Amino acid sequence: MKLTTKLLAATALISAGAVSTAANAVELEVTHWWTSGGEAAAVAELAKAFDASGDTWVDGAIAGGGDVARPIMVSRILGGDPMGAFQFNHGRQAEELIEAGVLQDLTSVAEAGNWREIIRPISLLDACTVDGKVYCAPVNIHSWQWMWLSNKAFADAGVPVPTNWDEFVAAAPALEAAGKIPLAMGQQSWQSSGAFGVMAVAIAGQDAYLAVNRDKDEAVAAGPEYAKVFEAAANARAMAANSNVQDWNQATNLVITGAAGGQIMGDWAQGEFAVAGQTAGVDYTCLPGLGVNKILDTGGDAFYFPVNSDPEITAAQLRLAALLVSPEVQVAFNLKKGSLPIRADVDLNAANDCMKQGLAILDSGAILPSGTQLLSPDTATQINDLMVEFWNDPAITAGDAQARYAAIIAAAD
Ligand code: GAL
Repeated sequence: MKLTTKLLAATALISAGAVSTAANAVELEVTHWWTSGGEAAAVAELAKAFDASGDTWVDGAIAGGGDVARPIMVSRILGGDPMGAFQFNHGRQAEELIEAGVLQDLTSVAEAGNWREIIRPISLLDACTVDGKVYCAPVNIHSWQWMWLSNKAFADAGVPVPTNWDEFVAAAPALEAAGKIPLAMGQQSWQSSGAFGVMAVAIAGQDAYLAVNRDKDEAVAAGPEYAKVFEAAANARAMAANSNVQDWNQATNLVITGAAGGQIMGDWAQGEFAVAGQTAGVDYTCLPGLGVNKILDTGGDAFYFPVNSDPEITAAQLRLAALLVSPEVQVAFNLKKGSLPIRADVDLNAANDCMKQGLAILDSGAILPSGTQLLSPDTATQINDLMVEFWNDPAITAGDAQARYAAIIAAAD
C-alpha cells in the first residue's frame, strides 16, 4: 500500500475514531412525566445505564402527569424544538406524530435486536408499529388492574384484609368507624377514569370490556353489565369522598400511612411502597383484578424519538432505543418501577410477591389490551372528563353517567 494511501487510511481511521468518540459523547434530552419517588428511582436507572454506555442522559421530567406532559411534548416537537427522546404510553397516543412524519423509524434497531422474537406480549411491539415500521421502544408492562390495601388500616379497623372487591365494600363502614378513608383517589381525571376501567373488567367482565373499548359497542356500554359497574362506581365515589389529594402518589401515600384502606391504581404504585420501605404481603396487600378477575391489561410505557437532522444525535437515539430493551436495563428499571419487563429472558428473582403474581398472570395469558391501546386520545379525554365530573358530583346519578358514557362510546374512533 503506497504511503499516501496508508496515510489517508490512517487519517480516515483516526477521524472515524474521533467521530465515534465524539458520537459517544452525545447528550440527549429525555422528557417524561415520572416525578414521584418510585418513578424517579426508576428513571434514574435508565439515566445511569445510558451514561455508562458513553452517551449522556439529560433529564427532562415534566410534573403533573401524562395529561399535562403529553401536550407540552407534542407542542415542542411540532414547534421545531424537539427533545432527543420522550416517554408516552405505548399505543395510540403517538398516532398523529407518526402520521406527521416527525418520529424516528426504529425498524433497524428492532431488527438488529430481534425485538419481534424477544418482546412479549407481541402486542407491545405491534402498538409501536405503523405500516410495518417500528416507532417506539417499549420499556415496561404496566397494568391498571390492581388494588392496593393497607394491612394497617384494616388491622386498626378490626376487620380482615379483603380478598376481593365485595369484601372491600363490606369493610368500608368499619374503616370509616376507625377514622379511615375507605378508598383513596386523587383528583386528576385519568385516575378516576382508570379506576372505572378496572371496575369494568372486574364487574362487567372482560368480554363486555372488550365489546365497549375495542368494538365501541354502544349497546353493551348502555346495557345491564355496565349498569352494575356504574352502580359500583357510585358506591366507590362515596367511599372516596374524603380523599382530598391531587396526585396519584399522594393517594398511594394515604394507603402507605394507613390513613386509607385501599386504592385502585396501576402497578406503578409499587414503586411508592418500595421507596417507603414497605413489603408486599406484610405491610400491604395487592389484589390483581380486584381479586375478582385475575387479568392484567398490557399497558405501559415506551420511548419515541423525534427525527433529527444531526446524524450524531440520530445515532445516539438508536443507541438509547437498543439499550432500553436490553436485559440488564429491563431488570434494573422494572424492579424500581413496579412494572413487568417486556422480555421473558430476564431473571427477576428479586421481584416481590405482587410482581410475581403479575408475572404468573402474564405468563398464563390472562391479558387484555389497555385503554391507551384501544381508545383514541380524543375518546380517552372525553371519558376522563366524564369520569372526573361523575366522581366529584354526587348529584350525577349512575344512570346519568352511563347514558353519557354510552354516547361517547357510540361516537368513539
Ligand atoms: C402512566 C404511566 C406509568 C405511571 C403513571 C403515573 O401513564 O404509564 O408509568 O407513571 O402514568 O404517572
